[in-house]
Amino acid sequence: MLLHIPGVLDREQVAAMRARLDTTGWVDGRTTVGAQGAQVKRNRQLGDTSPLAIELGQVILTALANHPLFFAAALPLRTIPPLFNSYAGGEHYGAHVDGAMRRLPGSGAWVRTDVSSTLFLSAPEDYDGGELIITDVYGEHEVKLPAGDLILYPSTSIHRVEPVTRGARVCSFFWTQSMVRDDLRRAMLFELDQNIQSLRARLGDCPELVGLTGHYHNLLRQWSEA
Ligand code: NI
Repeated sequence: MLLHIPGVLDREQVAAMRARLDTTGWVDGRTTVGAQGAQVKRNRQLGDTSPLAIELGQVILTALANHPLFFAAALPLRTIPPLFNSYAGGEHYGAHVDGAMRRLPGSGAWVRTDVSSTLFLSAPEDYDGGELIITDVYGEHEVKLPAGDLILYPSTSIHRVEPVTRGARVCSFFWTQSMVRDDLRRAMLFELDQNIQSLRARLGDCPELVGLTGHYHNLLRQWSEA
């Protein structure tokens, strides 16, 4: 499931982040990927032990913790602290799949990457190119969102970032291990949850909605792992 989540960060939060990021030192993005990724990755990143990345990442994690749509769609169990990247002057990232397992910094615990997120920190009119292209069974999807918005997609997808030919594309990106590993099951739970919520807004509570809510939780109980 591909899901656009608007307004994870507001305009002021994005501006405050950009003010810090635009005056920081970036490193070669190839330091954080495996051999296949390194061949196709041309961008700059903040190192994952960078104090600035840790500080700004915490702001994003706090915003997500208060975001019901992110919770409903990702059913997050563990999220890797957000990383930050920048593309300019033709930089790009060729087709790849994100690594399946990553270590949680500090604890060393493994996190399985079920859900990938990209949070845009540049306004689309401030750069040319830089589209995130995600491939699924329905074909290729081109994603370029307003600053502060997030795209959530299954980590199993092949994806790439097109060359940035004007301006700079600054984003945060991170991975989540979901309580529900399977993307189809996660998408079905999300659809059920969203329909229950819209029915409840229209009809108020009624016995059928209590039954459907119970059905949602019983499916989640069947399919979740923690
Ligand atoms: Ni990737």
